[in-house]
Amino acid sequence: MRPSTSPGTVLLAFTLLCALLGLGCPLSCEVCKGPGPSCSGRMKTCEAGKDACVVLVGESSTKGHQSVNTYKNCMKFRDCHSGFVSTTMGPKDYMVTNTHCCQSDGCNRVSVSPPLNNRTENGLLCPACIAPFQETCPGTQAARCVGQETHCIYFAGNVQAGIFNTKFATRGCATASACHTSAGAEVPSASYLYFLRRVDCLPAPQPPGRAE
Ligand SMILES: *[C@@H]1O[C@H](CO)[C@@H](O)[C@H](O)[C@H]1NC(C)=O
Repeated sequence: MRPSTSPGTVLLAFTLLCALLGLGCPLSCEVCKGPGPSCSGRMKTCEAGKDACVVLVGESSTKGHQSVNTYKNCMKFRDCHSGFVSTTMGPKDYMVTNTHCCQSDGCNRVSVSPPLNNRTENGLLCPACIAPFQETCPGTQAARCVGQETHCIYFAGNVQAGIFNTKFATRGCATASACHTSAGAEVPSASYLYFLRRVDCLPAPQPPGRAE
């Protein structure tokens, strides 16, 4: 029996051939998703148009259930923003993420440090709501912004969790870095994939009694 060719060898040969022929070579990235501050998985050739590798670590709380998860995959470079993002929809509903985007084969085979999670309130307030299955949400409640969250966001679109895909709408506090996201973007969190149709991001109003 001849030794079998590993998928890695095939991928390498393909990438070399494509570079030699001067073709637009597809990127390959590590793909994994799992609990904890790191994960590892197989290498995958990215679909056309996905020209970046991403690794992100997120800490989230949903109705008080906290978890840390890591996500690695291909995505569009245009939709990928390296750095820290914090969003707060309520005292028990928030998400902080650290993201690294890069554009060479296997460049996401690294770990990123878990995001700082500063829950100290900073005095700013934003309209807040979480509406699964809905296209809009009223924002009749108020979220207390924490840490570096200086903006109010309104995100709506679709969210994919495994094979389950549904509409969602949400409002709350966010760091200014969340405003880099634009409508039409496909962005991962540590646990879900979001297809954003609406992205509003405005500086949080100054609370009364606090002079500029
Ligand atoms: C946490 O956030 C508060 C409110 O914005 C700020 O005063 C404090 O300096 C932050 N702490 C750290 C360690 O960043």
